[in-house]
Amino acid sequence: MASFRIRGGRPLEGRVAVQGSKNSALAILTAAALAVDGETTLENVPQYTDVLDLCQILRDLGAEVVWRAPGTLTVRGEGVSKSEAPYDLAKKLRGSTYIVGLLLARLGEARVAVPGGCNIGTRPIDFHLKGFRTLGAEVEVEHGQILARAQRLRGQKFFVDRSSVGTTINMMITASLAEGTTVLENAALEPEIVDLANFLGKLGVKVRGAGTPNIRIEGARRLTGQRHEIIPDRVVAGTYLMAGAITGGRVEVQQVIPEHLRTVGLKLSEAGAEIVEKEDSMGICSPRRLRGVDVQTGPHPGFATDLQQPFLTLMTLAEGVSVIQETVHDNRFGFVNELQRMGTNIRVDRDTAIVRGVEALTGAPVEAAELRGGVSLVLAGLAARGTTLVQGTHFIDRGYSNLEQTLQELGADIQRVE
Ligand code: EPZ
Repeated sequence: MASFRIRGGRPLEGRVAVQGSKNSALAILTAAALAVDGETTLENVPQYTDVLDLCQILRDLGAEVVWRAPGTLTVRGEGVSKSEAPYDLAKKLRGSTYIVGLLLARLGEARVAVPGGCNIGTRPIDFHLKGFRTLGAEVEVEHGQILARAQRLRGQKFFVDRSSVGTTINMMITASLAEGTTVLENAALEPEIVDLANFLGKLGVKVRGAGTPNIRIEGARRLTGQRHEIIPDRVVAGTYLMAGAITGGRVEVQQVIPEHLRTVGLKLSEAGAEIVEKEDSMGICSPRRLRGVDVQTGPHPGFATDLQQPFLTLMTLAEGVSVIQETVHDNRFGFVNELQRMGTNIRVDRDTAIVRGVEALTGAPVEAAELRGGVSLVLAGLAARGTTLVQGTHFIDRGYSNLEQTLQELGADIQRVE
């Protein structure tokens, strides 16, 4: 198993160009296979392993998915003819639930493994299944697979429980080829939803209201492939800003949409960092020690849950106490056990972590068990005295490409070792 070996204590300095959003790419790649005419060209597609796995699933179903250059992918959906996704690949990623929506819309039938994804809580799929049923599908879960079948999908009104991001995406994909209009209430507001809506609009689906809680999707009969550029990955951008902050450095993330990072920027400012926002970049300049601030995660535009763990890690070295409440996922503090090996002072009580900042962390062997918790251990290692070994790089590769190279370019001493 590969590890990152980090010798901490160097302030990071420099600029990082951020790739496209993983979560947007997973939705848009799937949606691209809705089109039976022409070819879709996607730009700014990140080469994270989750995205590569989804490409492989789509190929297995009969789509033509080809990398034309780093970041540029073409998709032809015409050949999609198989209704069963490869079990071992589909079960690995949460985004494979979108394949159910795609296959229902395209073939009226789907067999897809119940997804796994990150180890951050129970992560049920009941809202998705309810959504498919509302549009007219019969759905069962049997022998580890979601089995869905629909003679005809019909647009309906649907209330999205907990403003679920994935359910909103899945309903948009499924409704794109349904008869009539689907109205989503309490839809997710995340930028990835707006990106998907813009893409579907180009393919020929009429989508109104994306970015508000009420989205209307008028199903189309046939869609045609188009060109689209995926929005930047706000979580990766936020991670690099926090890497700058935790090392008392100065980092600029480029090719980002600063509005998508506003809440994070405000919290970093509140903690004492200087944030400089430009048209398509955001910079941070951090003092040696930040102040502890409180954070509660929430759906967009609230503080993104995917940045809660890096922020908590930052707070382990801040002056004073910070209270971090996780309201989206039910177990996103598992990585705290590993952080404790490095000398942090954190108490977790159900959905809340109380972090008492310490003067310094010390390097230790630690183990990543999921994506964002894993990258947070890397951040802790960058700031710690001595050497940290983070095992489980494959979890981190799901959502960051060439993490070590990017951090090296910023001046970190980090290597991938077997
Ligand atoms: C998406 O997950 C992202 N994943 C997650 O990113 C992100 O943390 C999350 O949205 C929230 O922003 C992808 O886009 C692939 P939800 P998703 O449905 O869609 C509960 C990362 O680090 N729920 O908005 O699965 C659920 O358990 C990841 O990149 C049900 O109970 O999130 C959670 O508590 C991890 N039943 C809440 O709703 C369901 O059927 C919101 O989840 C669906 C969700």
